[in-house]
Amino acid sequence: MNDNDTTNGHTNDQTDGKKDEPYWLGRASVEQQRLLKQHGIWTKSIGYLLHPSITPTLPPNARIADVATGTGIWLADVAKVSPPSYSFHGYDISSEQYLPAESLPENVSLGFLDFKKPIPEDLQGTFDLVNVRLIIISMGPVSVWQDTLKNLMRLLKPGGVITWTDGNFLVARGFRGSSDTSTSGHALTTGQLQLNNTLIKRFGYSFPDMGDLFRDAGLKDVKEDVISTDRLVEQRREFTEIGVGAVFGGLGNLSKAGEEGYWSKEEVEKRKEEAVKDMESGAYLRWDIHVAVGVKAE
Ligand SMILES: C[S@@+](CC[C@H](N)C(=O)[O-])C[C@H]1O[C@@H](n2cnc3c(N)ncnc32)[C@H](O)[C@@H]1O
Repeated sequence: MNDNDTTNGHTNDQTDGKKDEPYWLGRASVEQQRLLKQHGIWTKSIGYLLHPSITPTLPPNARIADVATGTGIWLADVAKVSPPSYSFHGYDISSEQYLPAESLPENVSLGFLDFKKPIPEDLQGTFDLVNVRLIIISMGPVSVWQDTLKNLMRLLKPGGVITWTDGNFLVARGFRGSSDTSTSGHALTTGQLQLNNTLIKRFGYSFPDMGDLFRDAGLKDVKEDVISTDRLVEQRREFTEIGVGAVFGGLGNLSKAGEEGYWSKEEVEKRKEEAVKDMESGAYLRWDIHVAVGVKAE
Protein backbone atom coordinates (compact mmCIF):
# COMPACT_ATOMS: atom_id res chain seq x y z
CA MET A 1 0.00 0.00 0.00
CA ASN A 2 1.43 3.43 0.76
CA ASP A 3 2.53 3.08 -2.79
CA ASN A 4 0.60 4.77 -5.51
CA ASP A 5 2.81 3.54 -8.33
CA THR A 6 0.02 1.38 -9.68
CA THR A 7 -2.22 4.38 -9.76
CA ASN A 8 -0.77 7.68 -10.74
CA GLY A 9 2.55 6.50 -12.14
CA HIS A 10 4.76 9.38 -13.11
CA THR A 11 3.26 12.73 -13.75
CA ASN A 12 4.72 16.00 -14.83
CA ASP A 13 2.15 18.15 -13.04
CA GLN A 14 3.78 21.22 -11.57
CA THR A 15 2.68 22.76 -8.32
CA ASP A 16 3.19 26.22 -6.90
CA GLY A 17 6.10 26.46 -4.48
CA LYS A 18 5.53 27.75 -0.96
CA LYS A 19 7.71 30.52 0.45
CA ASP A 20 9.56 28.47 3.07
CA GLU A 21 10.22 25.46 0.82
CA PRO A 22 13.51 24.94 -1.01
CA TYR A 23 13.16 26.22 -4.59
CA TRP A 24 13.21 22.78 -6.17
CA LEU A 25 10.29 21.48 -4.12
CA GLY A 26 8.05 24.10 -5.68
CA ARG A 27 8.82 22.54 -9.05
CA ALA A 28 8.46 18.96 -7.88
CA SER A 29 6.01 16.71 -9.68
CA VAL A 30 3.00 15.37 -7.81
CA GLU A 31 4.63 11.92 -7.56
CA GLN A 32 7.88 13.40 -6.26
CA GLN A 33 5.99 15.38 -3.62
CA ARG A 34 4.04 12.27 -2.64
CA LEU A 35 7.26 10.27 -2.16
CA LEU A 36 8.89 13.09 -0.15
CA LYS A 37 5.84 13.43 2.11
CA GLN A 38 5.64 9.66 2.55
CA HIS A 39 9.34 9.58 3.52
CA GLY A 40 8.64 12.05 6.33
CA ILE A 41 5.59 10.17 7.58
CA TRP A 42 7.29 6.75 7.51
CA THR A 43 10.49 8.00 9.15
CA LYS A 44 8.57 9.65 11.98
CA SER A 45 6.51 6.51 12.58
CA ILE A 46 9.51 4.14 12.47
CA GLY A 47 11.52 6.46 14.70
CA TYR A 48 14.82 6.25 12.79
CA LEU A 49 16.26 6.56 9.29
CA LEU A 50 18.67 3.71 9.83
CA HIS A 51 18.21 0.80 12.23
CA PRO A 52 20.31 1.69 15.30
CA SER A 53 22.30 -1.57 15.11
CA ILE A 54 23.81 -0.57 11.73
CA THR A 55 25.75 2.65 12.36
CA PRO A 56 28.42 1.07 14.65
CA THR A 57 29.22 -1.53 11.94
CA LEU A 58 30.11 1.02 9.26
CA PRO A 59 33.79 1.72 8.42
CA PRO A 60 35.06 5.34 8.21
CA ASN A 61 34.84 5.32 4.40
CA ALA A 62 31.50 3.46 4.19
CA ARG A 63 29.92 2.97 0.75
CA ILE A 64 26.14 3.07 1.07
CA ALA A 65 23.60 2.15 -1.63
CA ASP A 66 19.88 2.90 -1.69
CA VAL A 67 18.23 0.74 -4.35
CA ALA A 68 14.87 1.83 -5.82
CA THR A 69 15.71 5.17 -4.28
CA GLY A 70 12.78 7.10 -5.83
CA THR A 71 13.72 10.69 -5.06
CA GLY A 72 17.01 10.02 -3.22
CA ILE A 73 15.62 11.71 -0.09
CA TRP A 74 16.53 8.82 2.24
CA LEU A 75 20.18 9.02 1.16
CA ALA A 76 20.23 12.80 1.37
CA ASP A 77 18.85 12.72 4.92
CA VAL A 78 21.26 9.98 6.06
CA ALA A 79 24.19 11.81 4.45
CA LYS A 80 23.36 14.97 6.42
CA VAL A 81 23.85 13.15 9.75
CA SER A 82 26.80 10.94 8.68
CA PRO A 83 30.57 11.51 8.45
CA PRO A 84 31.46 13.34 5.20
CA SER A 85 33.89 10.48 4.41
CA TYR A 86 30.94 8.17 3.60
CA SER A 87 29.73 7.95 0.00
CA PHE A 88 26.08 7.50 -0.94
CA HIS A 89 24.85 5.92 -4.16
CA GLY A 90 21.18 5.91 -5.14
CA TYR A 91 19.81 3.68 -7.89
CA ASP A 92 16.49 3.38 -9.64
CA ILE A 93 15.08 2.31 -13.00
CA SER A 94 13.65 5.80 -13.43
CA SER A 95 15.38 9.12 -12.82
CA GLU A 96 12.07 10.94 -13.13
CA GLN A 97 11.61 11.47 -9.38
CA TYR A 98 15.26 12.26 -8.60
CA LEU A 99 15.86 15.39 -6.57
CA PRO A 100 17.98 17.89 -8.50
CA ALA A 101 21.71 17.08 -8.17
CA GLU A 102 22.39 20.58 -6.80
CA SER A 103 20.01 19.97 -3.88
CA LEU A 104 21.88 16.82 -2.79
CA PRO A 105 24.89 16.69 -0.45
CA GLU A 106 28.17 16.43 -2.41
CA ASN A 107 28.78 12.82 -1.41
CA VAL A 108 25.40 11.64 -2.81
CA SER A 109 25.07 10.48 -6.43
CA LEU A 110 22.09 8.96 -8.25
CA GLY A 111 22.24 6.48 -11.12
CA PHE A 112 20.58 3.57 -12.90
CA LEU A 113 20.12 0.02 -11.59
CA ASP A 114 17.36 -2.54 -12.15
CA PHE A 115 17.17 -4.82 -9.11
CA LYS A 116 15.43 -7.48 -11.19
CA LYS A 117 18.38 -7.76 -13.59
CA PRO A 118 21.85 -9.21 -12.88
CA ILE A 119 23.91 -6.74 -10.83
CA PRO A 120 26.67 -5.18 -13.00
CA GLU A 121 30.06 -6.68 -12.17
CA ASP A 122 31.66 -3.37 -11.23
CA LEU A 123 29.10 -2.92 -8.43
CA GLN A 124 29.24 -6.46 -7.04
CA GLY A 125 30.77 -6.75 -3.57
CA THR A 126 31.38 -3.00 -3.26
CA PHE A 127 28.93 -1.77 -0.59
CA ASP A 128 29.08 -1.78 3.22
CA LEU A 129 25.35 -1.09 3.43
CA VAL A 130 22.45 -1.64 1.05
CA ASN A 131 19.11 -0.04 1.86
CA VAL A 132 15.86 -0.78 0.08
CA ARG A 133 12.46 0.60 1.02
CA LEU A 134 8.92 0.39 -0.23
CA ILE A 135 9.23 -1.92 -3.22
CA ILE A 136 6.34 -4.25 -2.35
CA ILE A 137 4.44 -3.10 -5.41
CA SER A 138 7.21 -4.66 -7.54
CA MET A 139 7.07 -7.94 -5.58
CA GLY A 140 4.60 -10.84 -5.98
CA PRO A 141 4.92 -14.46 -4.84
CA VAL A 142 7.55 -15.21 -2.15
CA SER A 143 9.95 -16.40 -4.87
CA VAL A 144 10.16 -12.81 -6.20
CA TRP A 145 11.13 -11.55 -2.73
CA GLN A 146 13.75 -14.30 -2.48
CA ASP A 147 15.22 -13.56 -5.91
CA THR A 148 15.27 -9.82 -5.21
CA LEU A 149 17.04 -10.27 -1.88
CA LYS A 150 19.66 -12.62 -3.37
CA ASN A 151 20.32 -10.14 -6.16
CA LEU A 152 20.61 -7.17 -3.79
CA MET A 153 23.02 -9.14 -1.56
CA ARG A 154 25.43 -9.30 -4.51
CA LEU A 155 26.05 -5.58 -4.00
CA LEU A 156 27.42 -6.23 -0.50
CA LYS A 157 31.00 -6.68 0.60
CA PRO A 158 31.49 -9.72 2.87
CA GLY A 159 30.35 -8.52 6.32
CA GLY A 160 28.18 -5.80 4.72
CA VAL A 161 24.67 -5.07 5.97
CA ILE A 162 21.37 -5.09 4.09
CA THR A 163 18.21 -3.47 5.41
CA TRP A 164 14.76 -3.74 3.80
CA THR A 165 11.80 -1.66 4.96
CA ASP A 166 8.36 -2.41 3.57
CA GLY A 167 4.67 -2.11 4.37
CA ASN A 168 2.47 -5.17 4.70
CA PHE A 169 -0.74 -3.96 3.13
CA LEU A 170 -2.14 -7.49 3.16
CA VAL A 171 -2.96 -7.00 6.87
CA ALA A 172 -4.41 -3.51 6.35
CA ARG A 173 -8.00 -2.80 7.38
CA GLY A 174 -10.17 -0.03 8.77
CA PHE A 175 -10.56 0.64 12.50
CA ARG A 176 -12.95 2.68 14.62
CA GLY A 177 -11.24 5.89 15.68
CA SER A 178 -11.05 7.35 19.17
CA SER A 179 -13.67 10.09 18.67
CA ASP A 180 -17.37 9.56 19.51
CA THR A 181 -18.25 10.49 15.94
CA SER A 182 -16.16 7.73 14.38
CA THR A 183 -17.75 5.11 12.16
CA SER A 184 -16.50 1.54 12.28
CA GLY A 185 -14.34 2.12 9.20
CA HIS A 186 -16.24 -0.52 7.23
CA ALA A 187 -15.85 1.23 3.85
CA LEU A 188 -12.11 1.56 4.45
CA THR A 189 -11.87 -2.18 5.12
CA THR A 190 -14.06 -3.13 2.15
CA GLY A 191 -11.93 -1.12 -0.31
CA GLN A 192 -8.70 -2.49 1.11
CA LEU A 193 -9.92 -6.11 0.95
CA GLN A 194 -11.18 -5.66 -2.61
CA LEU A 195 -7.72 -4.44 -3.66
CA ASN A 196 -5.86 -7.12 -1.71
CA ASN A 197 -7.98 -9.99 -3.03
CA THR A 198 -7.60 -8.78 -6.59
CA LEU A 199 -3.83 -8.31 -6.32
CA ILE A 200 -3.41 -11.72 -4.70
CA LYS A 201 -5.46 -13.45 -7.40
CA ARG A 202 -4.04 -11.48 -10.34
CA PHE A 203 -0.36 -11.14 -9.36
CA GLY A 204 0.15 -13.60 -6.47
CA TYR A 205 1.05 -10.83 -4.00
CA SER A 206 2.49 -12.02 -0.68
CA PHE A 207 4.29 -10.67 2.34
CA PRO A 208 6.84 -13.19 3.64
CA ASP A 209 8.14 -13.45 7.19
CA MET A 210 11.03 -11.03 6.73
CA GLY A 211 13.18 -12.69 9.39
CA ASP A 212 12.86 -16.09 7.71
CA LEU A 213 13.43 -14.52 4.30
CA PHE A 214 16.71 -13.00 5.51
CA ARG A 215 17.88 -16.11 7.41
CA ASP A 216 17.01 -18.43 4.50
CA ALA A 217 19.13 -16.22 2.21
CA GLY A 218 22.12 -16.96 4.48
CA LEU A 219 22.19 -13.58 6.24
CA LYS A 220 23.56 -13.48 9.81
CA ASP A 221 22.57 -11.44 12.91
CA VAL A 222 19.08 -10.97 11.48
CA LYS A 223 16.87 -8.42 13.23
CA GLU A 224 13.34 -7.32 12.50
CA ASP A 225 11.31 -4.38 13.79
CA VAL A 226 7.56 -4.30 13.22
CA ILE A 227 5.90 -0.91 13.53
CA SER A 228 2.14 -0.46 13.53
CA THR A 229 1.10 2.58 11.50
CA ASP A 230 -1.19 3.68 14.35
CA ARG A 231 1.76 3.73 16.79
CA LEU A 232 1.58 7.52 16.92
CA VAL A 233 -2.07 8.49 17.28
CA GLU A 234 -1.47 11.84 15.58
CA GLN A 235 -0.33 10.02 12.41
CA ARG A 236 -3.44 7.89 11.94
CA ARG A 237 -5.05 10.40 9.62
CA GLU A 238 -2.00 10.88 7.38
CA PHE A 239 -1.43 7.12 7.04
CA THR A 240 -5.12 6.75 6.17
CA GLU A 241 -4.80 9.42 3.49
CA ILE A 242 -1.82 7.52 2.00
CA GLY A 243 -3.82 4.29 2.14
CA VAL A 244 -7.00 5.70 0.60
CA GLY A 245 -4.95 7.18 -2.25
CA ALA A 246 -3.24 3.85 -2.92
CA VAL A 247 -6.32 1.64 -2.50
CA PHE A 248 -8.77 3.59 -4.64
CA GLY A 249 -6.10 4.65 -7.13
CA GLY A 250 -5.17 0.97 -7.53
CA LEU A 251 -8.80 -0.11 -7.82
CA GLY A 252 -9.39 2.65 -10.39
CA ASN A 253 -6.52 1.28 -12.47
CA LEU A 254 -7.76 -2.29 -12.14
CA SER A 255 -11.27 -1.20 -13.21
CA LYS A 256 -9.80 -0.64 -16.69
CA ALA A 257 -9.15 -4.39 -16.97
CA GLY A 258 -12.95 -4.84 -16.73
CA GLU A 259 -12.69 -8.42 -15.45
CA GLU A 260 -15.43 -10.24 -13.60
CA GLY A 261 -15.63 -9.21 -9.95
CA TYR A 262 -13.60 -6.03 -10.50
CA TRP A 263 -15.24 -2.77 -9.47
CA SER A 264 -16.17 -0.39 -12.31
CA LYS A 265 -14.81 3.18 -12.35
CA GLU A 266 -18.17 4.45 -11.04
CA GLU A 267 -18.22 1.83 -8.27
CA VAL A 268 -14.68 2.78 -7.22
CA GLU A 269 -15.66 6.48 -7.05
CA LYS A 270 -18.75 5.72 -4.95
CA ARG A 271 -16.82 3.44 -2.58
CA LYS A 272 -14.06 6.02 -2.27
CA GLU A 273 -16.58 8.66 -1.18
CA GLU A 274 -17.80 6.29 1.54
CA ALA A 275 -14.24 5.54 2.65
CA VAL A 276 -13.42 9.25 2.80
CA LYS A 277 -16.52 9.72 4.99
CA ASP A 278 -15.15 7.01 7.30
CA MET A 279 -11.83 8.84 7.43
CA GLU A 280 -13.49 12.22 8.06
CA SER A 281 -15.40 10.67 10.97
CA GLY A 282 -12.12 9.61 12.62
CA ALA A 283 -11.96 5.98 11.47
CA TYR A 284 -8.57 4.96 10.10
CA LEU A 285 -6.65 2.42 8.04
CA ARG A 286 -3.84 0.55 9.77
CA TRP A 287 -1.12 -1.81 8.61
CA ASP A 288 2.36 -2.97 9.59
CA ILE A 289 5.75 -1.64 8.56
CA HIS A 290 8.60 -4.15 8.72
CA VAL A 291 12.28 -3.24 8.98
CA ALA A 292 14.61 -6.19 8.44
CA VAL A 293 18.38 -6.12 8.91
CA GLY A 294 20.96 -8.82 8.09
CA VAL A 295 24.70 -9.20 7.65
CA LYS A 296 26.37 -10.97 4.70
CA ALA A 297 28.68 -13.76 5.84
CA GLU A 298 32.44 -12.97 5.73
C1 LIG B 1 7.35 3.58 -3.86
S1 LIG B 1 8.81 4.07 -4.61
C2 LIG B 1 9.88 4.07 -3.20
C3 LIG B 1 11.02 5.02 -3.34
C4 LIG B 1 11.98 5.08 -2.15
N1 LIG B 1 12.59 3.79 -1.88
C5 LIG B 1 11.30 5.60 -0.93
O1 LIG B 1 11.10 4.85 0.03
O2 LIG B 1 10.97 6.81 -0.90
C6 LIG B 1 9.33 2.62 -5.50
C7 LIG B 1 10.52 2.88 -6.40
O3 LIG B 1 10.98 1.63 -6.91
C8 LIG B 1 11.47 1.86 -8.20
N2 LIG B 1 11.58 0.55 -8.88
C9 LIG B 1 10.56 -0.26 -9.26
N3 LIG B 1 11.04 -1.37 -9.85
C10 LIG B 1 12.40 -1.26 -9.84
C11 LIG B 1 13.47 -2.08 -10.31
N4 LIG B 1 13.22 -3.25 -10.91
N5 LIG B 1 14.75 -1.67 -10.12
C12 LIG B 1 14.99 -0.48 -9.52
N6 LIG B 1 14.02 0.34 -9.05
C13 LIG B 1 12.75 -0.04 -9.21
C14 LIG B 1 10.45 2.81 -8.79
O4 LIG B 1 10.94 3.47 -9.94
C15 LIG B 1 10.21 3.74 -7.61
O5 LIG B 1 11.09 4.84 -7.64
